[in-house]
Amino acid sequence: MRLSVDEIAVTCPQCGELLDVEYDWDRVPVPASLREFERRWGNRNRPADFSGVWRFRELLPFATEEQIVSIGEGQTILHQSQPLGRYVGVDEDKLFLQYEGLNPSGSFKDNGMTAAATHAKLVGAKTAACASTGNTSASLAIFAATTKQFQVVVFVGSGKIAYGKLSQALDYGAKTLQIEGDFDDALDRVREITDSRGIYLCNSLNPFRIEGQKAIIYRVLEGLGWESPDWIVVPGGNLGNSSAFGKAFSELKSLGLIRRVPRLAVINASGANTLYRLYEQEQLRWNGGRVDEAQIDHFYADMDAEGRRASTLASAIQINRPVNLKKCLRALDVCDGVVREVTDQEILDGKAQVGAGGFGCEPASGASIAGARLLRREGVISSSDRVVCILTGHQLKDPAATIAYHTADDERSDQALSDHGVTGSPLANRPIVVENDLDKIADVLQSLNR
Ligand code: F0G
Repeated sequence: MRLSVDEIAVTCPQCGELLDVEYDWDRVPVPASLREFERRWGNRNRPADFSGVWRFRELLPFATEEQIVSIGEGQTILHQSQPLGRYVGVDEDKLFLQYEGLNPSGSFKDNGMTAAATHAKLVGAKTAACASTGNTSASLAIFAATTKQFQVVVFVGSGKIAYGKLSQALDYGAKTLQIEGDFDDALDRVREITDSRGIYLCNSLNPFRIEGQKAIIYRVLEGLGWESPDWIVVPGGNLGNSSAFGKAFSELKSLGLIRRVPRLAVINASGANTLYRLYEQEQLRWNGGRVDEAQIDHFYADMDAEGRRASTLASAIQINRPVNLKKCLRALDVCDGVVREVTDQEILDGKAQVGAGGFGCEPASGASIAGARLLRREGVISSSDRVVCILTGHQLKDPAATIAYHTADDERSDQALSDHGVTGSPLANRPIVVENDLDKIADVLQSLNR
């Protein structure tokens, strides 16, 4: 079934499946080469050229330039990191970090939110809402505060969101509802509310969010001189990013704009591993669009019967029922993908490596590093492969996790860490307590030189 672009819907009224944005590529002008986008680099004053999403607007052509709602998102960096390359185990110069934490709200969500906000404007929405583990709400809130396009209500699980993120929603003036429950509960409630009250839904169920997030891939390719890497490694939560990446690659390939589609690795936290279990253990597949529904239903029924709830220090990806599961299966199919799970210990060690050898990131993003390292150890990634790890959120999002890691020691181990199986912090950089005395400080400095 087809809906027109000016309708508000996230699911098909007939079959209930999530919608996809499709273009009639024969009717929209597409550049002959990705290099043609480079001519926009000099136009810093034109918002649609400055934006790291909309300068690729021919690849998401659902709005006119006048309709675009942009806050200057997507000025992010692809950074080659030798220390991280050594940690992961690939050859020198082969490991790249895509810093999506450099977006205005501090996470990759702004890529999708600019597209959702643009669509919200296009349909004349007055109120927008989302459920969130923190970053979606921060992103939606900053778009509402700076553009005044709509009012915002955000739903978060009580106690389930890192303080940096909660502080953003509050500071940007979003009405913030703390639901007694987790992200999945909050998402169920916000879906019901938006359905019944005509409020515009900004979670990644919204197909326009996925359109915007394709731009992360365009910028990765741009950073690599328009050549595909061998691997893209991304944390998996609600699976919007992985879905968007698969869509981006399949479109670029069919438009003849890239020669080769890279492989995709989606990394779950082992405490929130629905995709890993379904894909790697139960071999659930896209299967040409005929996904085995009964297998998914059975899996969730068992999850409920056993009272299994997602639990990870990477709170951004603490999700039981990823809404984009099927679209992610499609992406894994397009990109010959793999899924892995990594422990909270591996996630926090990976995060600490990004802090020590890069610009830092939040815990969920550390899963990309831990996942790449695991795949390298398994020999799935080879040492000569070019690997891009997507760092989804900024280092300052979750200071509690960072401080806990760096100050944990054997005697005074942090309860949250030990509850999640984090028993050591090999990269801890503990603060040194010293008296307010010049000689004592000099002694400490002296001892550091030894
Ligand atoms: N990394 C970070 C920092 C995130 O905030 C999220 C999702 C993910 C990874 C997972 O991405 O859903 O595309 O697989 N955060 C959502 C939120 C759920 O509400 O902010 P995904």
